[in-house]
Amino acid sequence: MGFSIAVAGKGGTGKTSLCGLTIRYLTENKRGAVLAVDADANSNLNEVLGVKVHATVGALRETSLAAVKSTAPRPGGMSMEQLFDYQIQQAIIEAKGFDLLVMGRPEGAGCYCAANNIIRKYMDKLADTYRYTVMDNEAGLEHLSRRTTQDTDLLLIISDPTVRGVMTGGRIGELVKELDLNVKRTVLIVNRALNGNSEDKTLLKVIEQQGVEFAGFVPSDELIFEYDLSGRPLVQLPRDSKALTRFYAMLDTLIA
Ligand SMILES: Nc1ncnc2c1ncn2[C@@H]1O[C@H](COP(=O)(O)OP(=O)(O)O)[C@@H](O)[C@H]1O
Ligand SMILES: [Mg+2]
Repeated sequence: MGFSIAVAGKGGTGKTSLCGLTIRYLTENKRGAVLAVDADANSNLNEVLGVKVHATVGALRETSLAAVKSTAPRPGGMSMEQLFDYQIQQAIIEAKGFDLLVMGRPEGAGCYCAANNIIRKYMDKLADTYRYTVMDNEAGLEHLSRRTTQDTDLLLIISDPTVRGVMTGGRIGELVKELDLNVKRTVLIVNRALNGNSEDKTLLKVIEQQGVEFAGFVPSDELIFEYDLSGRPLVQLPRDSKALTRFYAMLDTLIA
């Protein structure tokens, strides 16, 4: 069984950025294959990673759905299961040091529940063949209630350095418990922290009250801002960038 990492939090808190840095961390510091999954319909993890997307699972869903409904013989006499296996394999993008799977948007309207469920099953099966899986999720709580975050070893709840942001993080932590998702460890990370945040008694108190293990602060880093502005992949940040240094130290304690 592989080790799976997922993120949750409001939009703009840094989920995608920290996912990207986690993937880089794993390729640099750990042995074993790494699968990056972009499960945000407005996917942009590939930009952070500097990878071009030429296939998404969403684009395959339409054909999968047609195949589920069709009674016609499948190509090469494949079973439904084999067809899905094949299709998911087709959507894997091989990058330097890791593979990337982009969920993307389903094409067209209609209910994709059947296809989605089958895809999920195959996703799990696929994830099992990797030592590490890192899943970037959309903002909000939907992915939690849709249970796409089920069976996660480490859930990183990302917050901005505000009282309200941290409380939102706390609510996400509560929901994870309520939904009885199989998440082994949930931690709160306060990202884009400013000088003084880590000594701010009010903020620290609110963090403490959330009932979620606090992993620490990741500083706001002007280099990240610059890279973003010029469209440079974040994974190319210099090794001594302050956000990267701090986040790597955090991951040292979180990932075996
Ligand atoms: N530690 C940081 N310091 C400075 N800017 C950051 C930091 N983390 C993220 N950002 C910036 O914040 C914005 C939102 O980040 P992103 O990772 O896309 O958030 P999310 O995926 O949660 O919506 C991006 O412009 C990103 O470059
Ligand atoms: Mg994002």
